[in-house]
Amino acid sequence: MLETASHNPLTVGLARTLLPEPCSIVIFGGAGDLSRRKLVPALYNLMLDGLLPAGVAILGFARTDLDDARFRQLAREGVEKHSRRPLDEAAWAAFERRLFFVRGPFDEAASYEALAKRLAAVEPECGVPGNRIFYLSVPPSSMGTCVERLRAAGMVRADAARPFSRIIVEKPIGHDLESARALNDALATAFREDQTFRIDHYLGKETVQNLLVMRFANSIFEPLWNHKYVDHVQITVAEEEGVGTRAGYYEEAGALRDMVQNHILQLLCLTAMEPPWALTADVVRDHKLEVLSCLRPISGSGAAQSVVRAQYGPGVHRGAEVPGYRREPNVRPDSVTETYVAIEAYVDNWRWAGVPFYLRTGKRMPRRASEIAVQFKDVPPILFNVDASSPLDANVLALRIQPDEGISLRIATKLPGPKVRVFPVKMDFRYGATFGDQSPEAYERLLLDVMAGDATLFMRRDAVEASWTWVTNILEAWREAPVRWLPEYAAGTWGPVEAEKLIESRLRKWRTP
Ligand code: BG6
Repeated sequence: MLETASHNPLTVGLARTLLPEPCSIVIFGGAGDLSRRKLVPALYNLMLDGLLPAGVAILGFARTDLDDARFRQLAREGVEKHSRRPLDEAAWAAFERRLFFVRGPFDEAASYEALAKRLAAVEPECGVPGNRIFYLSVPPSSMGTCVERLRAAGMVRADAARPFSRIIVEKPIGHDLESARALNDALATAFREDQTFRIDHYLGKETVQNLLVMRFANSIFEPLWNHKYVDHVQITVAEEEGVGTRAGYYEEAGALRDMVQNHILQLLCLTAMEPPWALTADVVRDHKLEVLSCLRPISGSGAAQSVVRAQYGPGVHRGAEVPGYRREPNVRPDSVTETYVAIEAYVDNWRWAGVPFYLRTGKRMPRRASEIAVQFKDVPPILFNVDASSPLDANVLALRIQPDEGISLRIATKLPGPKVRVFPVKMDFRYGATFGDQSPEAYERLLLDVMAGDATLFMRRDAVEASWTWVTNILEAWREAPVRWLPEYAAGTWGPVEAEKLIESRLRKWRTP
């Protein structure tokens, strides 16, 4: 559904006051990790902040052998361990009264009958007028079945009236273009696009939302934000952890699918997009889609020139020796799944013509650090920049996504003293120091937005498919040129030497975030 230009573009978005509505939230996979670590703690914190609507019921739904009491216990443990604020007994007592569990396999009609019956029983007592959010935190292979069963059980209201039905889908949305389309088709058999909320949790991060504010609520950046002044952009999402216990999933995914197709391309879109004419969901998402449509395809032999993939080898993590990827539990000893990828990408439009975007992500890097760094062009080789053997450092605007959220600008200054010596310094803004309070977790904001029906921070179908189109080209190039091993980087280092070569061959250098 596209907004039309009949709105006054200057007020649309600013005037919006979407409020979360009372609803039931059914968590498919409610006994699982995501529910315990992220979703329940997020809902609990929303309640502490007084943001949760008064009428809410939260139902865990899974085949796991639990009842209400044991689900509440599991939820409590999740909050104790993972909530950003400690558990408060009085608040918890009020919260847990809203938690319920329905047991049943997702592929049996009887499970949905039980779910419908339970919803009908708890909704009146929780003050829920029948609005329902179905949160699919299940493997992609089960998603189609869940949707089909929900529809067959008559639990999906397909019009825009109240009570509403909405669906939230967790990544991965497919493993290539074809499977993503199939999944989107399956979703569309029961839910309209504006009822469908595809999560990319990066979009819920405060610092990611700040990207648009920084670009479009300040007058000084936008005039420089183009190929005339920007030399290149580096987007880094570095993780310290290895694959951990997720090898089953990760072996089939790898860094390109797991991080680039979604999180990194979304960061790229927000960095490169044109100013939207309003802040409404579809206007913002149309503008992001444009960036994906302009991404220069990387395919065939081009992949070898523009993409580096690698795997972590043994190394040292926090002072302890850790195994290489192939030695991790449940990883095939001859696995060629990449745990690191670096890409030189181009957005072929007027604004960004010729400006490389270097994208990189990896597991087992020296530290957790995500940032977008915009490096500006060098000053001319005159005045202060005449010594070719030690050129001046260029200006860099670095947006730190996490941790140590903030923004820094590198500028050249005169080193105090009688001689003229130029020295790079950083002007630094830190969220923590300025705003004190801990930022809300991404899932808090995202769940609230679904309750309010605001899809701005969610992935629209066309964007998911456009991302997959670009990524699938690379996957195919890899498939056409199979390898028996990947370059290695020692765990605890910034990546393989091949990635250094990729960027150094263009006379640039990776930053150390
Ligand atoms: C997930 C990936 O989407 O994002 C994980 O599947 C990754 O592999 C995680 O670790 C990173 O998220 P965050 O919020 O910790 O940067």
